[in-house]
Parts: sequence; C-alpha cells; structure tokens
Amino acid sequence: MRFASIVGARPQFIKMAPVSVLLRQHHEEIIIHTGQHYDYMLSTNFFKELSIPEPDYSLECGSGTHGVQTGKMLAAIEQVLIKEQVDWVIVYGDTNSTLAAALAAAKLHIPIAHIEAGLRSFDRAMPEEINRIVTDHISDRLFCPTESAHQQLLKEGITQGVSVVGDVMYDTLLSIQPRLVDHARSLLASLGLTPGNYMLTTIHRAANTDNAAAMQSIAAALNKVEMPVLFPAHPRTKACLQHYQIQLSSHVRLLEPVGYLDMLALQYAAYRILTDSGGIQKEAFLLGVPCITLREETEWIETVQSGWNILAGSHWQAILDAVAQPAPQPPQHNPFGQGDAAQRIVQSWL
Ligand code: UD1
Ligand code: UDP
Repeated sequence: MRFASIVGARPQFIKMAPVSVLLRQHHEEIIIHTGQHYDYMLSTNFFKELSIPEPDYSLECGSGTHGVQTGKMLAAIEQVLIKEQVDWVIVYGDTNSTLAAALAAAKLHIPIAHIEAGLRSFDRAMPEEINRIVTDHISDRLFCPTESAHQQLLKEGITQGVSVVGDVMYDTLLSIQPRLVDHARSLLASLGLTPGNYMLTTIHRAANTDNAAAMQSIAAALNKVEMPVLFPAHPRTKACLQHYQIQLSSHVRLLEPVGYLDMLALQYAAYRILTDSGGIQKEAFLLGVPCITLREETEWIETVQSGWNILAGSHWQAILDAVAQPAPQPPQHNPFGQGDAAQRIVQSWL
C-alpha cells in the first residue's frame, strides 16, 4: 500500500519517527512537510536527530493567522494528494497541519488514519481542540494513546476503526533512553548545573503567549523560584517576552529551542518541569519528574490523576504553591502503553 504521512510541527516529527521506520518495512511512504515549522531547531534538526527520511514534498506554507495558514496548507496538500494517488493519509496530533491534511484527504475520499486520536481539553477556545475534534470525526482509523481517549471517542459516537495502541511518543522516548544518563551528565556539566538542582520550563500555548497578564504572571513565578531555571523558548514566546517587555531574573536562562536528546536529558535531570506543552507533560511523567502545567486543563488527565502533574494555570502564586508540593509516590501503572504503539499501528495494515 502507498501512504502519505503529513506533518509540519516539532512534536509531529517526534511522533512520526517510530511509525515511519516500521511502515517502510512493509509499505511505500511519502512524507509531506507542510512547513508550519521551518526554523532549523524546530524542524530539520529533528529529521536528522531521529533519522527520519527527508520529506518528499516541502510545501513551505509557513506562519500566518489560522485561516491563512490552514488554507494555504489545505490547497498545497490537495495538489500533492491528487498527483500521488495514495491509499491512506496518516496525520498526527492536533496542529493546523493535522487539520489541513485531514480535510484535504477527506475531500478527495482518501482514508485518514489519525495517530493520537480522542484527546480533549474541553476548551473550544484552544485552537488544537477544534483541530482534534474535526480530525477525529473525519478519520477512518483512530489510534488512541490511552483508554480514556478511546472512551471519549465512544461518547462522541465514533465506534468504527478505533483502537488503543499506546503513545507513539513513548516509543520515541524509549529509543533514546539508553543514552540519557550519560548525555544528561555531560550536558549539565557544560551548563554548570547538577542533576535535581534546576527547573526546566517551556511555554508556547496561545492562551499564555497571547495574554500579556498571563505571561507576566508566569515570569513573576519563574523570577521568584530559588533555583536556576532553564527556559528553551519557542520563537513565538521569545517574541512575546520582548513585546510585553518582560524582564527575567538572572537565574532564568533563556535558551534557543534545543534538540530532542538534549530536551529529554534536561527533563530527566530536572527538579521540576513547568510547561504548557502537551508532549512534555507526558515525557515528565514517563521520566518520573513532577510536572507543573501552566494551563487550567489538560488532555493528559492520567498524568494529573497519578499525582505527577499539577494544573497550576498562569497565576504566579498557584505556580509557586505547585512547585512547593512534595514529589508524589511512583505511579503504579503506565497509561501510555508498552512503547510499541508504532508496531501496533503498522500491524493494523498487515
Ligand atoms: C504549533 C501548534 C501547537 C503545537 C506547537 C508545537 C497549531 C494551531 N499550533 O504552535 O498545537 O503545540 O506548534 O510546537 O497548529 N515561528 C517561527 N519559526 C518557526 C515556526 C513558527 O518563528 O519555525 C513563529 C512565527 O512567528 C509563528 C509563531 O511562531 O507565527 C507560531 O507558530 P505556529 O506554527 O503558528 O504555532 P505554534 O505556536 O508553533
Ligand atoms: N522539545 C524539544 N526541544 C525543545 C522543546 C521541546 O525537543 O526546545 C520536544 C519535547 O521534548 C517534546 C516535544 O518537543 O518531545 C513537544 O513539542 P511542543 O512542546 O512544541 O508541542 P506540544 O507537545 O505541546 O504539541
């Protein structure tokens, strides 16, 4: 069979890596990169680090308002799909690239496989929530990372083509894990830090970056914590820090986005992780590091139920209170599967 895997943003490259390698053992795959992310450290670096084949199509759609960006991608993907005559389109997660790819495929009557189906934050003001709902409702195979995601699809009346396979990000993490301890040691030494004696933060959600008061309040919390804070910043976050003229104390180190191995190593050895990222909430759980989520809700409810993730929102006092909480007991159960999600996904076409 002939597959088109359509990706465009940093977490999608990380999700596709284990699937692509197995898919190519049995099928033909073309990779379409929408160009939603284009900076080297948000895009090409992950293809190199994770040995993902170069995209067959780089559509270079770039940034824009939601309508402009999604519209450009929709038109460009449609052209490729008309030409390539694939049997399936595979989409990942919940970005505008996911939505555009799913819409393009659905209109051309090409079946869609959605990896990371069934996630919901129940906040329709969040752009990703719209992307997820629409994509799930027009997909033909829905691969859920967790049982709760499966249950959500059933509640929405989606019963055909659904399976729980585990989380593909866990597969990718496991492929890197043997290198983590050594890498963390050397990376931290180069930064003059020791394990467990710093915090790590990332921020990029629109609900925070587009809200000056939220960003100021998060920055106030970071400025008050009594530990070095590493802050690899997404370009939109860096831009908004400048725009809102937010001052960070000297113990908060603003960095360029880092590579995947570096990021996992920095998470692994952190005392606490403060983030609004979806993927990092899961990775913190899988690496056994307490996470403070800078949002009011999360799709990854298991991380909260296990006690490893605290939803603090953006208020500085709530963030500091969450940081002061003791680490929870080790979880009894890993809700994200066995680390063989990619195998289960590819097997479904054998
Ligand atoms: C997107 C996804 C989000 C995902 C995140 C992963 C949507 C709606 N959002 O958010 O779900 O969690 O990717 O990181 O799809 N920019 C650059 N260089 C780049 C890419 C972006 O400078 O390579 C800047 C541009 O100013 C752009 C802004 O970042 O306008 C936002 O980029 P965009 O892709 O629209 O959204 P993300 O915040 O990256
Ligand atoms: N990540 C990375 N470098 C960074 C920030 C994040 O490699 O500087 C990785 C992170 O470890 C995780 C993924 O990118 O695997 C999460 O992507 P992001 O936070 O951009 O998106 P989300 O998961 O929120 O959609």
